[in-house]
Amino acid sequence: MPSSVANAANNTDPGRLVLGIESSCDESAAAVVADGRRVLSSVIASQIKDHAPFGGVVPELASRRHLENLAPTVMAALSEAGVTLDDITGVAVTQGPGLIGALLIGLNLAKALAWSRELPLVGVSHLEGHLAALSLAQEPPPYPFMALLVSGGHTSIFLVRAPGEQQELGSTVDDAAGEAFDKVAKLYGLGYPGGIIIDRMAAAGDPSVIQLPRPRMHDGTLDFSFSGLKSAVVRFREANQGEDYRMEDLCAGFQEAVVEVLVKKTLAAAQERGVGHLALAGGVAANQRLRAAMAEAAAREGLGVTLPPLALCTDNAAMIAAAGCHHLRAGRRMPLEADAISRLPKGGALPAEALA
Ligand code: KG4
Ligand code: ZN
Repeated sequence: MPSSVANAANNTDPGRLVLGIESSCDESAAAVVADGRRVLSSVIASQIKDHAPFGGVVPELASRRHLENLAPTVMAALSEAGVTLDDITGVAVTQGPGLIGALLIGLNLAKALAWSRELPLVGVSHLEGHLAALSLAQEPPPYPFMALLVSGGHTSIFLVRAPGEQQELGSTVDDAAGEAFDKVAKLYGLGYPGGIIIDRMAAAGDPSVIQLPRPRMHDGTLDFSFSGLKSAVVRFREANQGEDYRMEDLCAGFQEAVVEVLVKKTLAAAQERGVGHLALAGGVAANQRLRAAMAEAAAREGLGVTLPPLALCTDNAAMIAAAGCHHLRAGRRMPLEADAISRLPKGGALPAEALA
């Protein structure tokens, strides 16, 4: 077959080689993924150092850094994958949720690339991206599975029936789990981002020394609440000023309270729906205690469990390309006039009118 014919045949599959772009928060990320499965490159320009002095992400600073870093990150992703824009068959970009200015930078870059190369373009829900990251694991979870998506912005339980087919069964009514980690770390001046720091300190602590509440543990729903737990830590700190207690024990006590509720509700969701496999997604899925507790619970109840490698847990663009591959193949497209969606309606999927 002449190569021009072979290329024409391949070009009918927009998911064959997808360029993913992610800029919803503080990571400028780009990736090239083949067939929604094989990660050829995944490049992340982290802004952690820029935001650390402020103890949290400063939205305008994030936008400016994306403006500087995102285009070079895309170039690096192409070059690391050993491909050029001529080889790319589709573009997937995070359309929301996230910081509006940050999202706009990624969206506009993706539109420009797709328009100039006449490539199919699709907008992806960041949450769906985190779930799609699981399909990039060496051993992806079998469908259906119950996913706990825990990040700095979200804490939800999703029943995932098939690629791109997920139902949110419960979510946080206030703070996200990662946000609670970050706020407690900030309260004590431990550093930023707080999740990983608390994770490390907790490993040297005893979770039974400082008992904290387990919010909504027995309320019979699949929803979460973490702002009360954070307030309990604030009250504990005030009540114990000048007292001698180990920071490691406080971290362990706090972390145990978060993990216990997360694991109990994920397990309850799987049992209610008769689902035999659990999975973790999102930045907090990097937490060592959460991983261990989820694995223990799954083993105890005879369920399977997928604990993705850390690089797939935190924000990246390979997960956006993977989710985008599915939507591109299903024929979904984002029009060039599409807007970024800072907050998604309940359910975690992009509203139908955001896609053509
Ligand atoms: O998914 P992600 O990279 O970004 C969002 O979409 O939010 O998640 C970032 C969040 C932050 O709140 C961070 O503190 C938390 O994940 N995190 C952790 C750990 N590593 C990251 N939380 C607990 N333990 C960790 N090891
Ligand atoms: Zn995320």
